[in-house]
Amino acid sequence: MTRFRVLVSLSLVLALTACGGGTSDPVEPPPPPPPPITASPDVRADYLVGRMTLDEKIHLVHGGAARDWWAHTLPRGGGGWVPGITRLGIPPLYLADGSVGVGNSVGEATALPSSLASAAAWDLDLAYEYGKVIGTEMRALGINVNLGGNVNLTAREPRGGRTFETKGEDPIFAGRITAAHLKAIQDQHVMAGIKHYAFNDVETGRMSVNVLIDDRAARESDLLAFEIGLKDSGVQSVMCSYNLLNGDYGCENSYLLNTVLKNDWGFKGFVMSDWDATRSTVKAAINGMDQEHPENLYFDTQLKQAVLSGQVSEARLNDMVHRILRAMFAVGIFDYPITVQPIDAQAGAAVAQEVAEQGSVLLKNSGILPLSKSLTSVAVIGSHGDIGVLSGGGSAQVTPVGGVALNEGTPCPPCWSRVIWHPSSPLNAIKAKIPSATVQYNEGTDAASAASLAATSEVAIVFVSQWESEGMDVPSLNFTDVIHTPPIDQDALVNAVAAANPNIIVVLENGGPKFLPWLSNVNAVLEAWYPGQKGGEAIANILFGDVNPSGKLPMTFPAKTSHLPRPVIAQPPDATTPFDVDYNVEGFNVGYKWYDSRDIAPLFEFGFGLSYTTFAINNVQLTADTTSSNHDFQITLDVRNTGTRAGAEVAQVYLELPSGLGESRRLVGWKKISLAVGEKQSVTIAVNANDTSHPLSFWDTGTQSWKIAAGTYIVKVGNSSRNLVTAGTFEVQ
Ligand code: BGC
Repeated sequence: MTRFRVLVSLSLVLALTACGGGTSDPVEPPPPPPPPITASPDVRADYLVGRMTLDEKIHLVHGGAARDWWAHTLPRGGGGWVPGITRLGIPPLYLADGSVGVGNSVGEATALPSSLASAAAWDLDLAYEYGKVIGTEMRALGINVNLGGNVNLTAREPRGGRTFETKGEDPIFAGRITAAHLKAIQDQHVMAGIKHYAFNDVETGRMSVNVLIDDRAARESDLLAFEIGLKDSGVQSVMCSYNLLNGDYGCENSYLLNTVLKNDWGFKGFVMSDWDATRSTVKAAINGMDQEHPENLYFDTQLKQAVLSGQVSEARLNDMVHRILRAMFAVGIFDYPITVQPIDAQAGAAVAQEVAEQGSVLLKNSGILPLSKSLTSVAVIGSHGDIGVLSGGGSAQVTPVGGVALNEGTPCPPCWSRVIWHPSSPLNAIKAKIPSATVQYNEGTDAASAASLAATSEVAIVFVSQWESEGMDVPSLNFTDVIHTPPIDQDALVNAVAAANPNIIVVLENGGPKFLPWLSNVNAVLEAWYPGQKGGEAIANILFGDVNPSGKLPMTFPAKTSHLPRPVIAQPPDATTPFDVDYNVEGFNVGYKWYDSRDIAPLFEFGFGLSYTTFAINNVQLTADTTSSNHDFQITLDVRNTGTRAGAEVAQVYLELPSGLGESRRLVGWKKISLAVGEKQSVTIAVNANDTSHPLSFWDTGTQSWKIAAGTYIVKVGNSSRNLVTAGTFEVQ
């Protein structure tokens, strides 16, 4: 506001000076006063647009990074920058990645567990806390735009290198977790972003893969995840993706940007390109892209020229600028200026640990866990378990508080992304649990030496890991060492240790679904994902029972490569020529829906996860008001802790639509419930037919609208997508 007042008086001085100069020019009337802070973002944006020159408008629709932006010439680090316009009091935009913490070399920040680990906690409140850490730390580090909301459904390609940044395979589930992250970020007056719009589910040929999918399948899968993530959070920026969809690049795809996003969903914010994903000036501008990043190859002089020649209307340019400014007002970037200050590292670390503890998934336990604190000897083996825990690579990479434990360089491919181990030592955390025991470490590079340590220990804990990154897919779903030459054969390591010691626990550090070929040879498996900078402590707390695991898989772990919709990852013919990948194979049946509709047994199903206690789900009742036209329904059930430890269970509600619609079943609601020993809680899960997830609907391509089909709906309840009882059925006439 102050800035505007100064401006108004400056203009008056200028006008008076002109008058005092004695010219006969008519005196310009003073501009109207700026709208008050209470005016709507639209009104405030319009006021500024009305005062901007053509050059100023062009200035706002592209990044200000130098062409050699990789040299990190950005004033606050991060990934991008749009300089402000001082004359009009428009602040600069400082953009940085932030899927798993503040990324892209802004400075040291809390390295949270992967986004998929956050999803695996199945807890929207905790997901909000996760986003809040990112938003708060971004503010502290001087960043006002977050690029982190990756909601791509990479279960279409579970070898996808960015799976760790995503939120799972189910659009309703992933959309809601993403919305919780993004809302929390924007509540800190940092603009959040959702990406990569859309169908950027694979890294192999990500710049040129042409995804083929029909309208209904698109709307009920990846697009639904975006729709929920966007509408439930009020996120103000959308990043269009590198890949093509049905023949057009994401950043010049009128179906995605104009039809679906801006028209059907009524999105009022702006679309920014992924980094160097802009392919044209006129087509991109007309088809809905609003801001180019990180630089100015298409939306600078070329766009100005296109506007002057009428190829792009000035109205469209005004729309781009309006959207950007409106988003800045809506989030509070004008009204809540940032003061750079130290981050609250302690608060961040507490959330990092809580998420790692809640999001780890116990996949197998033959009774060995939790470990006794009277153990006298433990062997800790592999994956730098003596110094730290692994993180995912690429633009989401965070420099953890206190610096990295180990940087193993930049493997090729992708040749630019770092292998970072965060400084949280599982070995030390395990030692702290059993201070008088002998706890020894073996690096696991030589299976025979690891086995000989295991043979002389009561228990062996083997850490196996898979480095994954933006810019590459993993070669297979086996744990495959892509870091070392020669590679460490981790499957052989587990088998050798299992042969030497009957008490073996395997802890997994990885981004997404994996095969566990040695599963029957080991006693317990804990999926710790990339557990973040308090991962070591969280793992030890779970292994020794100070925390009872309650995470559930947000993605199916398939049993065989031949079970995937596309067993072989399509390879691009060269760096630029578009090549097709047909998503109509699975269509909207992504993840568990694919395995269920084909009756293929997975290794572990979506929603699966064990606990150290047992639960019973009883008194399941469905209440559906069949007379009403809105088709809302609710489930009530009792969950009782029938075991000997306090713990938490996730009650999951699935809906089977009338047969003929082609879908097996869909998750429509869930609730995580913490229970003391013997405690029972009654739980209600309400399903609102008209909420953003369209839980009962299919997309009717003919009318271009969501429809509820006539027929029988079956409601199922349980604690995984395959462990369900029927709660009841209802009819829609
Ligand atoms: C990634 C985006 C990221 C951007 C800026 C791109 O390579 O695909 O996810 O936000 O770089 O770092």
